Amino acid sequence: MNEVFFNGHWVAPDQAKVSVFDRGFLFGDGVYEVIPAFNKQLFGAAAHLTRLARSLAEIEITNPLTQPEWLAVINRLVADCPSKDVSIYIQVSRGTPPKRDHAYPNPPVAPTVLASASPIAPVSEAIRTQGARAITVPDLRWNRCDIKSVNLLPNIMARQQAVAAGAAEAILVREGIALEGAASNLFAVIDGELLTAPLGPHILGGVTRNRLVDMVRTQGQLPMLECPIPFDRLFDASEVFMTSSTRDLLPITRINEHPVGEGRLGAVWQQLNHDFQQLKLQRNAQ
Ligand code: PDD
Repeated sequence: MNEVFFNGHWVAPDQAKVSVFDRGFLFGDGVYEVIPAFNKQLFGAAAHLTRLARSLAEIEITNPLTQPEWLAVINRLVADCPSKDVSIYIQVSRGTPPKRDHAYPNPPVAPTVLASASPIAPVSEAIRTQGARAITVPDLRWNRCDIKSVNLLPNIMARQQAVAAGAAEAILVREGIALEGAASNLFAVIDGELLTAPLGPHILGGVTRNRLVDMVRTQGQLPMLECPIPFDRLFDASEVFMTSSTRDLLPITRINEHPVGEGRLGAVWQQLNHDFQQLKLQRNAQ
């Protein structure tokens, strides 16, 4: 595997070692980002770095790098990765004070910083032609889902439930509202309108989500509503799809045991997915 960026240095992955007193390890006290590149071109990097800066600010960790410094790091990772489609992983934790204490260390210590690259797997033939299945699960998360925290236990439990059920994603439901996926945002076409949950503390403001909302509004062909999707209305949807940086627009053609609409790829998804792929090819989309 190629070198990773670790605490300001480029090292082999097995040389990037974290102390057992690192607060990311002890408390999950850190945040992360996943930034995609397609055909070696970064996609949405500025928005991802802005969200990283916001996540860090929300938990009072000083951003260790400036935006141009981050860009230099991630561009090098993309260039060195053998794959054309690359997923960049960034994690910043609060660092390694000498003693375990819940409160933030005062004075602060240097954060622990990692950036690495891995290939983005192509979408499987089955999903491309038939769509994927999702299950619905209770949302067990906290009330600051807008922070991209490394505390992912409820998310990984939900995704594991999906995998165990032979599904591609879990839809998280809180107080009767279908909010988002374990690692993706949720869109549903209901009565000819495209719905997605509004930004706020109960979802992550997905970069793919935000770009798609903008794209649909700019096109002006389809009403785009940022409003809660009641759980039972999900089953009235003619189409459902879930968005993320590494899975683009994942079409969902089955939820639990029910087909979505006619149980096959829908016309809205096909058009938006086509347009989104075009957007990815535009240089100014970076
Ligand atoms: N996850 N909601 C959650 C809870 C997520 O974890 C993610 C992304 C998204 C989609 O955000 P974006 O479009 O910016 O990727 C929504 C990443 C991919 C992950 O955890 O690996």
